Parts: sequence; C-alpha cells; structure tokens
Amino acid sequence: MKLSEINKVLSFIEDKVIYPDISTIEGASTNPEITVNGEKVLIFCSNNYLSLATDPRIKEEMKKAVERYGMGSGGSRLVSGNTEIQGELERKIAQFKGTEDAITFSTGYMANTGVIPALLDPLAHSFVSYLKGKTFLRDTSVVFSDELNHASIVDGIRLSRAEKIIYKHRDLDDLERLLKKASGYSRKLIITDGVFSMDGDITPLGGIMGLGKKYDVVVMVDDAHATGVLGESGRGTAQHFHLQTPPDITMGTFTKVFGGVGGFIAGTKELIKYLRVTARTYIFSAPIPPVIAAGLIKSIDIVSSEPQRRERLWGNVSYLHEQLAKHDFDTLESQTQIIPIVIGDEKKAITVSRRLLEKGYFIPCIRWPAVAHGASRLRLTLMADHTKEHMDGLVKALVSIKEELRF
Ligand SMILES: Cc1ncc(COP(=O)(O)O)c(C=O)c1O
Repeated sequence: MKLSEINKVLSFIEDKVIYPDISTIEGASTNPEITVNGEKVLIFCSNNYLSLATDPRIKEEMKKAVERYGMGSGGSRLVSGNTEIQGELERKIAQFKGTEDAITFSTGYMANTGVIPALLDPLAHSFVSYLKGKTFLRDTSVVFSDELNHASIVDGIRLSRAEKIIYKHRDLDDLERLLKKASGYSRKLIITDGVFSMDGDITPLGGIMGLGKKYDVVVMVDDAHATGVLGESGRGTAQHFHLQTPPDITMGTFTKVFGGVGGFIAGTKELIKYLRVTARTYIFSAPIPPVIAAGLIKSIDIVSSEPQRRERLWGNVSYLHEQLAKHDFDTLESQTQIIPIVIGDEKKAITVSRRLLEKGYFIPCIRWPAVAHGASRLRLTLMADHTKEHMDGLVKALVSIKEELRF
C-alpha cells in the first residue's frame, strides 16, 4: 500500500459518514453504570457477563501480586516468563473445564491464531520432517469452519495455510455433505464457536462431535462466550448438552466471564505439551502478566463457587428476551446473553446507536467486517448486575427509537 492510499480510504469512509464513534469511557467500562462524555449512562455491550471485572476480592489478589511480581514477565514462557503463577492458572482453568491440562496465551485471539496453525500447518510439523531428514512435509490439511465463526478463527485458518471449507451456519447436514467429499488430506479439523459471538445462538456440539468421530476428524470449539455461562457449573457448551466427554480441543478467553484478559486452550496432556513447542503465539510472545494471572485465579474460584451469579445472568437473559419479543424485535436465533437486534443499513444502525446514547444507553453498533454487509446491528449483552429497571428502561428507549426511525 502507498501512504497516499490511506487518505483515499479515510475520505471514502468519512464521506459515507460511517467512521465508528469511538467514545471514551471515564473509569471502569464494565459496571452497568458508566460515564461517557461526562454523562452517566448504562452499558449493554460489555462481555463482563458475571460482573466480576471490578470485584474487590479479585483486586485484593492483584494488589498482592503486583508487590511480588511487578508489572511484566520480562520475556516469553520458554525463556524468562514462566513464573509459578502461570502454571497455577493453567491448572485452575483445566480443572474448571474438566480437561487434563491447559495452556494460556496473552489473548484469546492469540490462542486461536496459535493453535490452528500448530495443528494444521505442514511447516509446524517440520519437527517430524526434521527428524526424518526432510526439509518439510508436502502434504495438506483441511479445516471445516462454521460460516459465522469469530474473526480470530478466520485469521488462525489463514495463518495455517490449510484449505478452508465453510459450512452453513449450525448446519449438520451441510457439514456431513462436505466431510464426505473431502479426501486425501493428512489432517482434518472441524472448528466452531460454542456461543456465536454476534448472533448469540449455540452450536449443535453433540452432532458435530458425532460427525468428527464418524469421519475421524478432530473437533475444536471456541467457548469464549460459553465458558462460565453455559452448563450447570459453567463448564461451557459440552456441559450444556450433557456430553460425556469434552471436544478434542476447547479454546476460551479470560476476557469475558472472568473479567480480565488472556486466552487458553484446554485438552489432553499430550495436546498441551505439543502446543508449548509448536504454537508460535505462545513461543514468540510474552504471557499474561502475572498480576492479571493472580486476578484470574481468584476469578475462576468465584465463578466456581458462586452459581448464583450465573442464575442472575440467566434470569436477565429470559426477561430481556421476553420483553423484546413482546415488541417484535428480531433477535435472530439468540438463546443467550448475546442478543442481536438487526437493523441492516449501516448508517441507520449508527443513528440508532447515537439516539440510544442520548437516551442514556451505551451500545455501539456492529458493522462489517464483524458481520456481513447489510447485517449491521445492535449487539446487546447482559450482565449479572443488570436490574429489571435497567432492562425496562432499555426496552422503552428501543421502542421509541424504533417508532421514530422505523427499523
Ligand atoms: C468467539 C470469540 N473467540 C475469540 C475471541 C478473542 O478473545 P480475546 O478478546 O481474548 O482476544 C473473541 C473475542 O471477541 C470471541 O468473541
């Protein structure tokens, strides 16, 4: 790209008046009540689902950790960054997810962009070719990916150099049709979000794992929005469907329910041992800062021991879904705390979002490339600490803006 092209792109976006409003939030952005442009408003777009990001018990653990560890790790895990707290966090999250082991990354995005190439890129398998005295293996991998999978999965697939086969959203028949046709590949992976990040619906994981078994394909689920939310003890999508075993690979993030930052992969001991020497985003990047790891360990304890938070969240989910249905809002197939309200036109979606802010509700609109062109939307998210009054106020504001702008 030439630098002059940057201005052309910017002018195009500005002429169309679609540059995003990136509002500055004063103080924490994770409580229902936040301050934007000096005004107190309610936030309905945070992924702090169990309202833990500002929990005083977590802050206390972080204060102790800052005294012990300072700010950063000084290097990657394989060099100088492997402090004891990293292993403790990995054991904790593996126990929470019910797997033999886990490995952490500095973000969920890094987890996906690390694990997918490590599993599929023939060059990652150059250990094998190295041992065999060849330069690298000339074989191919294929990945079957739900059409609405998160961008970090899409980018992980790009980095993997595998062939990408997209199946229709949550469509087992389409997936099976494509699996039947795919032959001659050395490695095969099916990958799906657990709860879809923009639509809030749930993948048919049991069916996908059944197909994985039938066609001998590894199955990976991205449980970013399901961990801590779905299942009796918050274990995620597999527990939600009462599956006896977890999928081969589970990805998750500490950015949502746990209220912090970081990503993880949970699975067998062998898988995790393998990823420590093949996932480039683990090898060549510094880990989650120890002070955050300390907060996360406490956060996992709270998520495990306080199911009432999940119950409050699910109470809110049922209530808001009911209220929106009464007023004929189209929320697609959402079954969870992520509730889309599709507006379609990008400019109109921006106007709706601005009108909501004027009325005291902070919900930036979601546009391409996060969703398809013409599918711009509000993406409402709920937290355990939202109250009935908060939700009633939001619905009232939405109804009046809908009448005014006819969306
Ligand atoms: C489904 C899904 N996977 C992965 C990620 C990336 O997680 P992180 O924010 O920890 O990088 C997100 C975050 O938005 C997500 O929604």
